Formats: sequence, C-alpha cells, structure tokens
Amino acid sequence: MAKIIDGKKISSEIREEVRETIEKQGLSVTLAVILVGDDPASRVYVGNKKKACEYCGIRSLTFELKADTTEQSLLELIRRLNEDSSVNGILVQLPLPPQIHTESVIEAIDPKKDVDGFSRASVGALSIGAKGFVSCTPAGVIQLLKRSGIEMEGKECVIIGRSNIVGKPMAMLMLRENATVTVAHSRTKELKSVCKRADILIVAVGKPRMVNHEYVKEGAVVIDVGIHRLDPSENNGKTLCGDVDFEDVESHASFITPVPGGVGPMTIAMLMKNVLESAMEGGNAL
Ligand code: GUN
Repeated sequence: MAKIIDGKKISSEIREEVRETIEKQGLSVTLAVILVGDDPASRVYVGNKKKACEYCGIRSLTFELKADTTEQSLLELIRRLNEDSSVNGILVQLPLPPQIHTESVIEAIDPKKDVDGFSRASVGALSIGAKGFVSCTPAGVIQLLKRSGIEMEGKECVIIGRSNIVGKPMAMLMLRENATVTVAHSRTKELKSVCKRADILIVAVGKPRMVNHEYVKEGAVVIDVGIHRLDPSENNGKTLCGDVDFEDVESHASFITPVPGGVGPMTIAMLMKNVLESAMEGGNAL
C-alpha cells in the first residue's frame, strides 16, 4: 500500500515557517490581489489567499474590479502597484473577462513582484536556471517530494500535461533536480507504456480519474495535480476527485497524493513563500 503524502500537513509547515520568519525578522510584507468580475471559484481562491496572508502576518490589499473593467484601467492599477515600494507581490486572479488580454496583463506586472511566476521573465529565468519566481503549484510539488524524502536525482519522471502553469514549469523544476524528464500530453502515442516507465509520475491532465493502475509502475511515486467536482450522490458522498483513480492506483504506488489534501493546499503555501522571498530580497528576487 502506498504511503499518503499529506499536503495539508506539509503546506501548514511551510505557512508556519513563513509566519515565523516574518515575525522573528519583524518584516513588513504586502501582497496585492486583484479580482476582476465575480466568478464564484475565483472569489473562493482570493478569499483563501487573504486568509493565508492573515495567518502569516502578510498584509493583503484586495482590489475587486467590476466585470466590465477595461484593460486600460487594470493596467493603470498594476502600474501604480509596481511603483508602490510597500507592495512586494502582485497577483491578478485568472481567468480574466474576455475584453481583457491576459498576456498583456501578466506582462505588465513588474517581474520583481510577479509572485505567481507567470510572466515571460519568470518562466524564462526558470528555463535557464536563473533566479526568479516559480509558478506556485509545480513549486509545491517539488516541496511535497523533498519533504517526503523522495530522491529525484537520476529518476525517470513522466509528467502528463504541458500547460504553461503546471506541465512546462514542472518539467524545468524536475530537470533542475537532475531527474530524467518526459512530458506526455493528449497526442502522446502509447501513453500507458510511457507512463509505466516513470519512477515519479506527475499527472496534470485535467480529466477526472483518468490514470488507473495500468499507467503506474509497481512502486512508483504518483502526484495528482488535478481537482474535479463530483456529484456526491453518485460517488459515495465524495465531492472531489483528481486526475488519478486513487483507489485503483493506491496499492501499486509507493507514495501517492490524495485529492483533496495533496497538491491543492501547497499552491497557496508556495505563494506565501514567494511573497516573503520578494520582501526579503528587497525587490531583488531576480
Ligand atoms: N486561477 C487559478 N489558479 C490560479 C493561480 O494560481 N493564480 C492566479 N493568478 N489565478 C489562478
């Protein structure tokens, strides 16, 4: 039976480390969060980010803009926050309404304050092994592996999914840890046999319970980045599942992350760590 990697516990350790550092060093740390429109899921995420800031002793400034906000006025707000030396991190919650060009908004954020790690400068820095902010979810996966004592050097790592936010930065981070990395995706041929090569299988494919034991080598480490809502009346009272069929894979893996309580809680913890890093570097994180 696989050991369960407890993302709730590990993320709370990281949040606690951030809180202690801020308290001991008497740091003044501020995160600006911008929410455009009233997407209910985004509202929940932003609320959770605010709560985590409060816990860590980070001041959070929330800007709630109407759904019909123009790109120009959003860019103007970002320009002001870039210039405000008391603001250490700027986060624009995605998705944005259709009249706003997401890439222009991300690129408008000063890379020294890009605590989401989504800008070209941040992604480029990661690709060449330079200093910069790393996208929070893949950075969280690395912490789950390290803090569970899982060696990455020399291991075969297969990542399913090639998104800019998870798959691609995940590949760069695993390379940085000296793993041998394969990025698989929807067009990959013989996907099951490719996945079966993996010592570490990272699943960010966006399909509920797609990965069953046929994708998993005996004794592999399985990390599930997916999260999907379920109808509890049809799923034994369960409301959430991942991209991995947990019950089917559990007995084949050596370590596995559950959903919920695996990768999910790590994203906000790593955001807190990025904001702290930005404050400690005094705007010189890059
Ligand atoms: N929307 C969903 N996940 C994220 C995230 O990690 N950051 C931002 N800015 N928006 C998101």
